[in-house]
Amino acid sequence: MPHRHDPFANTALVDTYIADTPRKVPGLADVHRMTMLLLSECARKDADILVVGAGGGMELIALAEAQPEWSFVGVDPSGPMLELARRNVQYIVQRVELIKGTIEVVSADQFDGATCLLVLHFLDKSERLNTLMQIHRRLKPGARLVVAHHSAGTGDAALWLARSAAFADRGTLSWEMASATGDALAAALPLIPASEEEALMREAGFGSVELFYSAFSFKGWVATA
Ligand SMILES: C[S@@+](CC[C@H](N)C(=O)[O-])C[C@H]1O[C@@H](n2cnc3c(N)ncnc32)[C@H](O)[C@@H]1O
Repeated sequence: MPHRHDPFANTALVDTYIADTPRKVPGLADVHRMTMLLLSECARKDADILVVGAGGGMELIALAEAQPEWSFVGVDPSGPMLELARRNVQYIVQRVELIKGTIEVVSADQFDGATCLLVLHFLDKSERLNTLMQIHRRLKPGARLVVAHHSAGTGDAALWLARSAAFADRGTLSWEMASATGDALAAALPLIPASEEEALMREAGFGSVELFYSAFSFKGWVATA
């Protein structure tokens, strides 16, 4: 079995996901806007966009509101997270198809762009590679992929995760607690160094792999199919 840390089986976490996530991820709204810009450089005006790990629907909403002619296929294996997305995108339902499962269940290909936000840090190396390859297979040549997630970066992963935990905690700052959270996350998540992240994207067939976002333990890359 692949290494799997699955917090999305926890319905309490899903219930508070939309409120909590922007507090945890520095500049999340800006990550969504940068993602839209990076995709739109290489996409048609009425682009079809693949959203991998679409649970919650936050990036779907941000991209759909910024690009009124884009349509989306969102895929996610978590029933509760997909249901949350379904509720949140109801007002743009004619532009969004949501499918339960991992990328393999998406039969369509020839997408004009793809996102995989806050997902890859849950996947071990072989599952990541497979996911990236499957995304690549479904993109038009020259289309963009944007990914962002916790990464081991180049230094002490647990320390950077502790800093992210401290960033997320808007109560009384406790470095002891942040550090314990950092250690727990480092043990639970199969993080890999930034150089390996980039190598995996290249191995999956992507070129022009470039870092566009770095905030404590979070990193984001853009790549071209
Ligand atoms: C932290 S949430 C991110 C959701 C959304 N992309 C966002 O940025 O708000 C991680 C999501 O990844 C989904 N996920 C886990 N494993 C996955 C996989 N192999 N393929 C696609 N999604 C996966 C989870 O079910 C969950 O909904």
